[in-house]
Amino acid sequence: MLQVRHLSKSYTSGSLVYPVLKDVSLRVEKGEFVAVMGPSGSGKTTLLNCISCFIPHEQGSIVLADQDISDLNETELARVRNRQMGFVFQDFMLLDGLSVFENICLPQIIARRPVVQMEEKARNICRLFGIEKIMEKYPVEISGGEKQRTAVARALMNQPYVILADEPTGNLDSKSCKAVIDAFLPAKQELGATIFMVTHDSFAASFCDRVVVLKDGQVYGELTRSGERRAFMDELLNTIRTLGGDSDDNA
Ligand SMILES: Nc1ncnc2c1ncn2[C@@H]1O[C@H](COP(=O)(O)OP(=O)(O)OP(=O)(O)O)[C@@H](O)[C@H]1O
Ligand SMILES: [Mg+2]
Repeated sequence: MLQVRHLSKSYTSGSLVYPVLKDVSLRVEKGEFVAVMGPSGSGKTTLLNCISCFIPHEQGSIVLADQDISDLNETELARVRNRQMGFVFQDFMLLDGLSVFENICLPQIIARRPVVQMEEKARNICRLFGIEKIMEKYPVEISGGEKQRTAVARALMNQPYVILADEPTGNLDSKSCKAVIDAFLPAKQELGATIFMVTHDSFAASFCDRVVVLKDGQVYGELTRSGERRAFMDELLNTIRTLGGDSDDNA
């Protein structure tokens, strides 16, 4: 499980200190698909960057699979990020000079895994995500939805403990957004992936098991999906509207 305990983080500018995360605690169980929503500036990206230890925090701890990763040195952290975390970004972050297949294989190459198993694994994930036909293409030759499915496939290659995604559907239209969700769902259901996704999009979040709502750097509440997806989406839209935040109503 991923656990954030009493996390506090502020940014400083000159002599001014801006608290951004204020005593944030949350838990993501193994195999759960959890979203973080909240108004712009509420601290979502900061939270994700603290979890991956890309930026330091002042107080609290991050526990991943029973290991407190808050105090690791850079070498240990690099290993945790490569082996136990998979990343999906809003702007895909694929390498243009590599094919889809090569992009997907990259984390395994970095982890120095044997080639035959790596290629078989990459092919299996491509099949699961319906992108086997574009495996030999380059990023400039594929659509946004295909790029993001490639990025999700890459994030899964090392069977990470958790996938961290910041607005993975933020640059996509609603059809491509669904294509990305259609990669996350089999990742969870078939591969048992744990997914933690920041999103503005109530449609994307409505496919999750649970949604943590942030407001002004604090956990404002948590919504758990119990019934129909559409009813959950309405609940999310209402919550976000109450907060005065922005949200896409695209389904
Ligand atoms: N590097 C930084 N230095 C100083 N302040 C920052 C920095 N990064 C973010 N902030 C501030 O911290 C607050 C939270 O930012 P963050 O990017 O975490 O919000 P967010 O919830 O992800 O917003 P959005 O929905 O717009 O992506 C904002 O007020 C932002 O201006
Ligand atoms: Mg953000």
